[in-house]
Amino acid sequence: MITQILNPVKDDYACEKAAQLLKKGEVVAIPTETVYGLSANALDPLSVRKIFKAKGRPQDNPLIIHIAHTDQLYELAKDVPQIAKELINAFWPGALTIILKKADTIPFEVSAGLYSVGIRFPKNEIAQKIIKTCGLPLAAPSANISGKPSPTKAKHVIDDLNGKIAAVVDGGDCSVGVESTVISLIEKKPRLLRPGGITLEQIESVIGDVQIDRAINNKLNNDEKVCAPGMKYRHYAPRAKVIVVCGEPDKTAEYISQNARRDSGIICFDEYEFFFKTYEFRKIGSKNDVSEQAKNIFEVLRQFDETNVCEIFAQCPNNEGLGLAVSNRLKKAAGFDFITL
Ligand code: TXA
Ligand code: MG
Repeated sequence: MITQILNPVKDDYACEKAAQLLKKGEVVAIPTETVYGLSANALDPLSVRKIFKAKGRPQDNPLIIHIAHTDQLYELAKDVPQIAKELINAFWPGALTIILKKADTIPFEVSAGLYSVGIRFPKNEIAQKIIKTCGLPLAAPSANISGKPSPTKAKHVIDDLNGKIAAVVDGGDCSVGVESTVISLIEKKPRLLRPGGITLEQIESVIGDVQIDRAINNKLNNDEKVCAPGMKYRHYAPRAKVIVVCGEPDKTAEYISQNARRDSGIICFDEYEFFFKTYEFRKIGSKNDVSEQAKNIFEVLRQFDETNVCEIFAQCPNNEGLGLAVSNRLKKAAGFDFITL
């Protein structure tokens, strides 16, 4: 298959072409504000299966559905609780996926056999235009090969999926850079399944206390039940082993410079560049600018696959605000091999 690259800046009909392909049952990578998504018609089992095949995604990992109007939610989910409406008012369109009871119209291919479904209304205008033009809810996981860092540029999608999907719509760099926050409203208490673009503090300011799923900060035992099936897989992983170092930035920089070998790679905050000049190092942003860190984290993890480093030490932000999402992605890339100083 030849993968078309559709660019809305150069081609006025790029979104229409993407929508046509989706209506025909093809799989198309689309930009969102978080990461690129690998989309297909959520109501058609055959189209949805193509997503799993292209990504090499485990069959038991459900997909989230993308909509471009809040009302679409009620065709896809049932028993929508009041707190869902409060979250929607506060954060949609945006980087928040809400897990609700699924409507019967949604094929089990999307929910991976579960009776729940994740729904998100992305803010990205190109994504919205494509969803509106094709008139379909779009199932879309991140548009990477399963296990690799999520794609935040069209180039990342091409690197992983060229020849395996009908098209990629190039919308430039993703503005958030980490995936959406996933919150489940299936049980009595809301539960955070994945930290992401909307922070826990923002959510709690609207609906009060939220339970934090254990999988966010811990490696689960093989027999432990997982609420978000995606959380149990090693993820975001470059080829080299990752060692995450948490704590005060001055201390983590010192620890890394004492423990790194000549052929170690380093992920550091901008302020510590001078510590690591002689290493293969990548900056992810200022220690005080976690939005910038979120924007760069996946690109940096991907860049290390083009080097020969034997291991990667990473300075890790604390869990405040977007820091929870950035540190979760780093820890997952490390298989939860992390040190706290
Ligand atoms: O920002 C995002 O969320 C991106 C863009 C493309 O929208 N999408 C994304 O999808 O990150 P994906 O499939 O890579 O991650 C979705 C996560 C997975 O961990 C999955 O297991 C979980 O959400 N999930 C999806 N449906 C679920 C459900 N019904 N119950 C529990 N977890 C669910
Ligand atoms: Mg993903």
